[in-house]
Amino acid sequence: MKALTVVRSVADLRRAVAEHRSAGRTIGLVPTMGALHEGHVSLVQGALDRGDVPVASIFVNPTQFGPNEDFGAYPRDEAGDFAKLEAAGCRIAYAPVVEEMYPGPQLTTITVAGLTDHLCGPFRPGHFQGVATVVCKLLMMAMPDRGYFGEKDYQQLQVLKRMARDLNMPIEIVGMPTVREPDGLAMSSRNRYLAPSERKTALALYRGLNAVADAVRDGRASCSPVAERAAQALLEAGFDTVEYLTVVDAESLAPLDRVRGPARVAAAARLGRTRLIDNIAV
Ligand code: PAF
Repeated sequence: MKALTVVRSVADLRRAVAEHRSAGRTIGLVPTMGALHEGHVSLVQGALDRGDVPVASIFVNPTQFGPNEDFGAYPRDEAGDFAKLEAAGCRIAYAPVVEEMYPGPQLTTITVAGLTDHLCGPFRPGHFQGVATVVCKLLMMAMPDRGYFGEKDYQQLQVLKRMARDLNMPIEIVGMPTVREPDGLAMSSRNRYLAPSERKTALALYRGLNAVADAVRDGRASCSPVAERAAQALLEAGFDTVEYLTVVDAESLAPLDRVRGPARVAAAARLGRTRLIDNIAV
């Protein structure tokens, strides 16, 4: 196994990346907030499969959390994360402190309009601006050839693809399939908040998405009544609230009445103190 180099500053990150570049290698950045699971490992593998030197960042970004969200409680396990990255074949881990990422007030921000009007956008004001801005900064710091993101955060992926396109970034944003537990629950760092009984209930989310996808796939059924029934079923299964369960266009993320092309069934629902999101292709 090749050793993982841990760097904490932008200067050290750039030096470590430059060594690989001067040897003619391409770079794949895997931005994370740590608490790594097999989904993150699959992103590192995605970089290796494309011949990139995998570089992961671990940074719990304060600007993408709302005032009542779980920034303080977000799981942190740096030593465990480094071990997982090394075992996965990652070569550089960039783990800056907040002052390295934000040495002063961040007066420049990135807003991707339109795409953030739907799904999580209205429920998490400022979230996607925080995500787009920090990812833009991470991309400028590492200057990779490709950036790897999971489809589990499908709206985030679309927002970042659009940012890279609109700003002519010479960086490919690669979406990787959601990695699921054997029973279907999408892997997420937040799954560790779930109590055992909630963990069982959580499975209803993936089942609900599949039921909707099956019902609307051929374009004959109108999406919203089907999605409303599925949201009701989630509440009956034990979810506390369903923020949204909806069928959207796979690119614009606008709600669809009927499926006529690539679409996504997406949901966000709360179970105790945990907010779960998931989505599947239709
Ligand atoms: O998906 C995440 O973990 C975060 O939103 C990201 C992309 C690392 C930005 O902080």
